[in-house]
Amino acid sequence: MEVIICQDAGEAGRRAARRIAAVLSRTDEPVLGVATGSTPLPTYRALAELVDAGDLDTSRVTAFALDEYVGMPVDDERSYADTIRRTVTEPLGLDPASVHVPDGMAENLVAGCQAYEDAIREAGGVDVQILGIGGNGHIGFNEPTSSFASRTRLKTLAPRTRQDNKRYFAEGERVPTHCVTQGLGTIMDARHVLLLANGEKKAEAVAAAVEGPVSSMCPASVLQHHPHAVVILDEAAASRLR
Ligand code: F6R
Repeated sequence: MEVIICQDAGEAGRRAARRIAAVLSRTDEPVLGVATGSTPLPTYRALAELVDAGDLDTSRVTAFALDEYVGMPVDDERSYADTIRRTVTEPLGLDPASVHVPDGMAENLVAGCQAYEDAIREAGGVDVQILGIGGNGHIGFNEPTSSFASRTRLKTLAPRTRQDNKRYFAEGERVPTHCVTQGLGTIMDARHVLLLANGEKKAEAVAAAVEGPVSSMCPASVLQHHPHAVVILDEAAASRLR
């Protein structure tokens, strides 16, 4: 694992964007793995700047999101489909038909998960996967105890994750209980992975992921086994590293 510590989230976003652009530029049919949440937003802004400056061509980029809430209509602004549209597809000028998000509304969720795995494989696999980390060490919505061999599947959100995501919902509104997420095995198949974290709240999870034992109690720790894993942190998120 390569760990890069930046002064602040803005610098981290710019460093991440340069790394991602370098990987995407090396291939004719680039496949980008995208995360939602607040952490990758500076990276998406920095990527959009590269596109606007003509330094990154996204016309042939296919993208796959990590996860989606179950039962959340795609036109709801809290859905990950809509979040990816606003924060990734439009600013980076991607073709909406080339941007995929797991279907949390599928009548048959199991078949939908298999179709998502098939779509990633048919696209040639993910070249570079962007990841945030939950306070409990989750990546995607692979909560603690997730199998390292897991594939895209239905998961129950951990109480801490639902608590953390309450900020996107109105007072008294129920945070979804279930999601569809790429598995840890799916994520590990990406040719490059880039884990981002900002702020003191993530410091403990980052230390467990980077320096702790590889354990399903901290799902992100599986990235220690990835041959091309880069961790980009601001100083606060790096504050518990030894
Ligand atoms: C989002 C995702 C999650 C988030 C994580 C951190 O698609 O898969 O693993 O990356 O919960 O969220 P933020 O960045 O909002 O702290």
